[in-house]
Amino acid sequence: MAYIHVTGGKKLMGEVDIQGSKNASLPIIAATVLIDGVTRLDRCPRISDVFHMTNILEAIGCKTYWEGSSLIIDTSSLGTSTVPAEYVRKMRSSIIMMGALLGRTNEVTITYPGGCLIGARPIDFHIEAFKKMNISLEDVDGLIVCKTSKIIGTEISFKFPSVGATENTILAAVLASGKTIINNAAKEPEITDLCLFLNKAGAKISGYGTNQIVVEGVERLHEISYRISSDRIVTGTYIAAVAATGGHVKLGHTSCGILQGVIDLYRKIGCHIICDEDNIYVSATGKPRPVPFTKTEPYPGFPTDMQSQTMAVLMSSEGTSQISEEIFEGRYKIVDEFRKFGANIEIEDRLATIHGTPYLKGAKVYASELRGGAALVIAGLVAEGHTFIHNPGHIERGYENICRDLQELGAQIDYVN
Ligand code: EPZ
Repeated sequence: MAYIHVTGGKKLMGEVDIQGSKNASLPIIAATVLIDGVTRLDRCPRISDVFHMTNILEAIGCKTYWEGSSLIIDTSSLGTSTVPAEYVRKMRSSIIMMGALLGRTNEVTITYPGGCLIGARPIDFHIEAFKKMNISLEDVDGLIVCKTSKIIGTEISFKFPSVGATENTILAAVLASGKTIINNAAKEPEITDLCLFLNKAGAKISGYGTNQIVVEGVERLHEISYRISSDRIVTGTYIAAVAATGGHVKLGHTSCGILQGVIDLYRKIGCHIICDEDNIYVSATGKPRPVPFTKTEPYPGFPTDMQSQTMAVLMSSEGTSQISEEIFEGRYKIVDEFRKFGANIEIEDRLATIHGTPYLKGAKVYASELRGGAALVIAGLVAEGHTFIHNPGHIERGYENICRDLQELGAQIDYVN
């Protein structure tokens, strides 16, 4: 079985370019279904979640192929609006296909996505929005069968600014009849990226990046090429790695603008961070500084997807920090693995208290979800001696090649088959 072997204690020096965004690519790949023809996505990350989405597109009759880091998708031979269950079970974010298939074919059949290790992850907001848009949904033997004669624009207000529900509603609204207003919409940069993609293809969407998004339905979209934006969580993960080990690193093809909530916190932790148009320069010396209290919030707050990586940094700081995980109830499962390094972390409901430990020792640990897996790599970079991270496939869901990237920064890390 494959594993990642890290030998800790080395500072990070050098430069690495940041990949395209996983959480922008997935909804944009789904959105290509709204275009009857060919779409070219440049700087699409070659990660297993993207490969999974291309498998789904192929399974419903589309054609996809790669030219380097460009993904070309031809949906002209789309043949069915039933998403094979095995794909949804493997990747719950396949649910994003619902809005796109409804927009293209007025129907979709898909199995309920399970939760995952980080949380139950219900889809009630998505379903409520579709019902308001003249879409009927029926549960048939565990499948959601959705049908409509015509999607009709309406006003929708979310109880919580759900990223996926905002994306699915936008996808269903683009070719709908009339206007859709989404209140309490998610403001994450990935929403903006999706809307920029759709507007370039002829959609009429405004307000993205704010809490009210307005979609004017149009007749059709046209073929385009589009460059996917940088992955802000991969960027944040590498900033966390420098914060933990010390060093001086240039992160290329990324920007501080998409990292609200992260830059300020890492400056408090002790990083010196300089931003220019297309790069971030981050350096750190000595131990990370503790931060009294941080909580995860929807954008532009501190992102839940950076919580585990930040815990990995703070567990070697010189003091006590607290983090409250407000978004996903299961994100603390990684703490048992952190404790194998000698970390001193107390969990009480949503609140983690991290007592910094001067000495962490290498350990044999197991990744069980994406960001927790990346956090184990950070812990291994700091811990004395050898760390072995099993089930690296979880990390490959969102990181093109974390070992290659960190090797380029001087880390002693290898992927062992
Ligand atoms: C997206 O998940 C991201 N995934 C997640 O990144 C990210 O952590 C999350 O947004 C929050 O930023 C992708 O973009 C593919 P939500 P999503 O709907 O859309 C509750 C990663 O590591 N909720 O904003 O599933 C839900 O339970 C992944 O890259 C409902 O109750 O997140 C959660 O508590 C992990 N009902 C909260 O809202 C619903 O119908 C936020 O979920 C939908 C959501």
